[in-house]
Formats: sequence, structure tokens, C-alpha cells
Amino acid sequence: MLKEKANIAVMVSGGGTNLQALIDAQNSGILHSGQIVLVVASNPNAYALTRAADNGIESVVMEDEASLIPILQERDIDLIVLAGFLKILSPDFIRQYPDRIINIHPALIPSFCGKGCYGLHVHEKALDYGVKVTGATVHYVNEIPDGGRIISQKAVEVQEGDTPEILQRRVMEQAEWILLPRATEDISAEIVKGTKA
Ligand code: GAR
Repeated sequence: MLKEKANIAVMVSGGGTNLQALIDAQNSGILHSGQIVLVVASNPNAYALTRAADNGIESVVMEDEASLIPILQERDIDLIVLAGFLKILSPDFIRQYPDRIINIHPALIPSFCGKGCYGLHVHEKALDYGVKVTGATVHYVNEIPDGGRIISQKAVEVQEGDTPEILQRRVMEQAEWILLPRATEDISAEIVKGTKA
């Protein structure tokens, strides 16, 4: 039986601006083939939890992967979106959701990615290296950190005088908050049509 909408779980660790972009996309209709039914936070202080509560979305704080699996199964989750989720998921967990977990990374993979390269560090590294263009990537999650198939990418210019914080904000505004809702809609649409591999 095909569903009307894919059930989406969004996993977060911090401020949750990418979660907000997904909620806004849902409210504006950009995201219409899927609905966010659950927010999973890796820590209880994540501001993303407040965003979930403000929007009437159920949330849980993750204790460990083993206890998360039945929570996802009970809610019949079709797609997991890592939106600033800064823990690495185990191969065992990932195998339960093949091609059903996507992640946003704030650089043009394969640059500035992999273990230990997350959040503001990514932009510090890009500035230290002196690249003139950076960006964001949405990709499937496999057992290699930031190593899964690329879904979409968008380039963003580095400007004279950028600090990691300024660059981070530009990459979010010009790339992340656009790419992640679009990819989430596209994959949700395939899931509800029954055409997703
Ligand atoms: C975002 O820039 C996201 O791309 C990054 O963490 C930030 C979370 O911000 N993710 C990674 O670095 C994953 N490797 P947010 O909580 O405001 O969405």
C-alpha cells in the first residue's frame, strides 16, 4: 500500500536551522510529499528541540542506537534526514535504512569532510586552506563518514574578510537551507510514488 506522504525523522544536535528550513518548506508546500513526524536529538540541550515543540512535532532525545530503532519502526519512518547531526551512526544502524538516510554537509565533498570535520571546523579549514569557493552537499549516508553517493551540491563564494561564522551563515543561507528541503521533497516523492530504489 502506497502512502500519501513519506514519514520523515529529522536527526539534530544543535541549533537546528536546517530543521527550521525543513519545517518552513513543509509550511510553504515546497516539502509536500513527506511530513516530519519525529525529531531525534543527540543531546537534551539542542535548541532544535524547542523548534520541534514550537511546531507541534514529536521529539525524542536519543539514548543509544539500539533504543532508537524501535522508536523509528513504531512511527513507520521512511526517510531519515541528518540535519546537523554530529554523531557518527554505526554501520549496523545504517544497514537498517539503505538509501533512506541523507545528510547535509557544509562543504563541497570531497573537500573538507570526513571524521572530525563538522560544523564550524569545516569553514575554519576552508578559510585556512584559502579556497575561493566552498558550498554544501546533500548525500546518502553509508558506513564511510561523508562518503555516500552525492545527491546535490551548490557552490558559495568565499569573500575577503570572511570569518568562519560569516562563511557558515552564507553557506547556510545560499546553499544548505535550499538544498536540504529540495532533496527531502525529491526523495519523499519517489518513496510515495513507489519508484525509489
Ligand atoms: C550545518 O552547517 C550542517 O551542515 C553541519 O552542522 C551545521 C548544523 O547547523 N553539519 C555537519 O557538519 C555534518 N558533518 P544547524 O543545527 O543550525 O542546522
